Amino acid sequence: MDEQKLRLVYRVKPMDLASAGSVSSQIKVELQRSGIEDDVVRRVGIICFEAEMNMILYSVGGKLKVEVNSDKVEIFAEDEGPGIEDLNAAMEPGFSTAPPWAQDYGFGAGMGFPNMKLNSDVLEVDSKPGTGTKIRSVVYRRNTDETC
Ligand SMILES: Nc1ncnc2c1ncn2[C@@H]1O[C@H](COP(=O)(O)OP(=O)(O)O)[C@@H](O)[C@H]1O
Ligand SMILES: [Mg+2]
Repeated sequence: MDEQKLRLVYRVKPMDLASAGSVSSQIKVELQRSGIEDDVVRRVGIICFEAEMNMILYSVGGKLKVEVNSDKVEIFAEDEGPGIEDLNAAMEPGFSTAPPWAQDYGFGAGMGFPNMKLNSDVLEVDSKPGTGTKIRSVVYRRNTDETC
């Protein structure tokens, strides 16, 4: 059994642009403090930031959880709705339904999911209209002794 080192859970509130990015920043600080490898912290930070922003902009709110194990960091982003109509389209680079007011703040490039994919070793997105969106991402820690 793999021993779990650290578990972080944060609430992400909808429409809260004033604190946009604060949850992912806190997660980065906690991971750095726990001695997680810099590259892993950087990648987890990007994934969390994109998931946090999407929850703020498009969901009614949800939770961002991070679980650190000796071999990997797992990220769970789960919101309570409204879910994504066309998940395949949403995963495509450049697809965005960001409203004009969010675009004025520089959001809506449609690169959030592509960025999550690029920085994850495993990315699972499950979303249904009415239910909500669930994301699981894994970033492996390559800190095992490689003797050959
Ligand atoms: N948690 C979510 N709830 C509902 N819709 C979402 C959520 N996350 C993403 N989406 C939808 O997927 C689209 C693409 O997301 P993303 O790749 O992050 O690009 P962007 O945020 O720039 O629009 C969003 O515009 C939105 O329509
Ligand atoms: Mg986004």
